[in-house]
Amino acid sequence: MSVLVQEQTMQINKIKENIGAEVTGVDLTRPVDEATLQRLHDALIDNVALVIRDQNFTAAQYAAAAKLFGDLMEDQNRMYLADGVPMVSVLSNRHKDTNGKPAKVANNATWHTDHTNQEFPPKFTCLYPVALPDSGGGTAVCNMRAAYEALPQDLKDRITDMKTENTLISSARMKTANPDIVRAQKEAKTPPMIQPLVRTHPERSTKAIWFHKSKTERVIGMEPQETQDFLEELLEIAIKPEFTYVHEYTLGDMLMVDNRSAMHKAGFDYDHSQHRMVYRALVRGERPA
Ligand code: SIN
Repeated sequence: MSVLVQEQTMQINKIKENIGAEVTGVDLTRPVDEATLQRLHDALIDNVALVIRDQNFTAAQYAAAAKLFGDLMEDQNRMYLADGVPMVSVLSNRHKDTNGKPAKVANNATWHTDHTNQEFPPKFTCLYPVALPDSGGGTAVCNMRAAYEALPQDLKDRITDMKTENTLISSARMKTANPDIVRAQKEAKTPPMIQPLVRTHPERSTKAIWFHKSKTERVIGMEPQETQDFLEELLEIAIKPEFTYVHEYTLGDMLMVDNRSAMHKAGFDYDHSQHRMVYRALVRGERPA
């Protein structure tokens, strides 16, 4: 039976000791049984980043594959969506902003986690490349629970109860951000979203450093610029090569990131005259605690 064949041939292998696992022998356009799904889910949570190889999706099939892991949520930037599939957003270095200028995407190229300004940010970010440069343009993922555990105790004690105020774009980043995002922020009526700087994983009870610097207006108790400097310093201390995996894509890879334990960034190390286009689907998460 086709469902059983998938269960028998699926293999999951660790990529690095602290982060990453690779899955082969499963086709997410075909029915997947509960046991297979549970193995994929557990491998994602245990390894923080999961690469499911050899997929062949249309945008609609990709949305359906991501939905196997939970309810999808809309990308808050509604400008760049896959045709007819509003739950799949398109990240591309060829997008234009509403002024007709190349859309700035630098926010994705620095360490962050997605949509921290929302009450229920995505638990999983799923990425699937549709066009790739000849080299570079991978996605880096860092295991932020390992990064938190490795911090000096006094720094852990200092940050564990810190709270951040999150907006679509922080005032510190407005000058350099995409003008459409700046306009949306200026028009926004919503108050800043308060989030923990260190969050506890709802399924594992582990703690992880968790923020989006461009969306952090301030750490409560600090000024905005002081916040940006502090978060930059924290990243410099926390992110270590042994906790980081850079996924260099091959067409057909579905990369999944457990955002409750990770921060990630897009690689800018490629020839920008070449096209890089990635479909993104977001699986809704819980209220960070
Ligand atoms: C993201 O920040 O969610 C996308 C990262 C990437 O384009 O590699």
